[in-house]
Amino acid sequence: MIKLASPDITQREINAVVRVLRSGTLSLGPEILKFEKAFARYTGRKHALAVSSGTVGLHLITRALGFKKGDEVITSPYSFAASVNCILYQGARPVFADIDPQTLNIDPKKIEARITSRTRAILAVDIFGLPAEFSKIRALCKKHKLTLIEDSCEALGAVYQKKRAGSFGIASVFGFYPNKQMTTGEGGMVLTDDDGLAGAMRSLRNQGRHSMGGWLAHHDLGYNYRMPDINAALGSVQLSRLPGILARRKKVAQNYQKLFARHLPDFTVLKDFPGVTRSWFVFAALVPERLKGSGRDNLIKHLQSKDIGCAHYFPALHLQPYLVKELKHRRGDFPLTEDVADRSLAIPFHHLLTLKDQERVVRTMEQFIKEQ
Ligand SMILES: Cc1ncc(COP(=O)(O)O)c(C=O)c1O
Repeated sequence: MIKLASPDITQREINAVVRVLRSGTLSLGPEILKFEKAFARYTGRKHALAVSSGTVGLHLITRALGFKKGDEVITSPYSFAASVNCILYQGARPVFADIDPQTLNIDPKKIEARITSRTRAILAVDIFGLPAEFSKIRALCKKHKLTLIEDSCEALGAVYQKKRAGSFGIASVFGFYPNKQMTTGEGGMVLTDDDGLAGAMRSLRNQGRHSMGGWLAHHDLGYNYRMPDINAALGSVQLSRLPGILARRKKVAQNYQKLFARHLPDFTVLKDFPGVTRSWFVFAALVPERLKGSGRDNLIKHLQSKDIGCAHYFPALHLQPYLVKELKHRRGDFPLTEDVADRSLAIPFHHLLTLKDQERVVRTMEQFIKEQ
């Protein structure tokens, strides 16, 4: 089996986790503070808050910013569900703007037409590890007095105009699910430079407690969104190994780029753009027009039948059943997203992947296409 994704856990991570287990302090302990400090340093942000997932990190932001029914937040229809769920959790309305079919990120040119008197924020997603076009998005936020939020869950280590992903907007979030560049099992990190927002999110993360208040004094309707110390210890080791991990992922991506150029030249694969360094999260490819839809679906099934991990990354968000019900979107509303969603698939990608396995993946695809 060639897995779609795989974490890389060494003896160092195992030792760190065992040390926490032996310490007896499994929650609210020193490992959280250590991990947060290292993460704030890495991203150049003032505050870092470790949380139990990327999804809850996004929710802490929308909740702490006070989004509510009647508010609108503009975001991309080509993302993971959590990017819109954090808006819906607050009763606010996600408003989509179509993507740039080259970068697969929200197209700043499409945003302005979607702004209304109810718009509060733009939630930009760094899809597949490529930072959104922040210079243009920030200019729009300034012009229309909107808040910028960055969903950088997929982009740890990416760089945009010399700044790391996660350093844009009032707050940003990373996710550490095991398919990510680094993992804590489950987990996430919220980042901000805003003292007030950081304080509010710290309290909400910990059941609405205040730093000066007692354990059973709850000042707000809070949540338990805390990360356990075991996960933080794992995260600290993974973060210290990140430069090596990212370099290896880049090499694996470059191998795929070469293999596709040689064997599947009419496929479109992820690439880099000037002034931006992608952090390689997944390796997605777009099938040519003639294989769009069912051809792509059959290719996915074929790869899976050959024990090659493969997935439809991503379906168009606005056509997800629960969002059709909620937002009443129809096919045709965001045609560029729909085209990419009908053509995209993710193939095995992680930094332990061998060239031999990569060749097997691409040759299996090539063989299947030839037989069509
Ligand atoms: C763009 C994006 N946002 C949010 C999330 C949510 O992160 P988590 O799975 O840690 O809740 C993910 C996770 O894959 C993601 O890809």
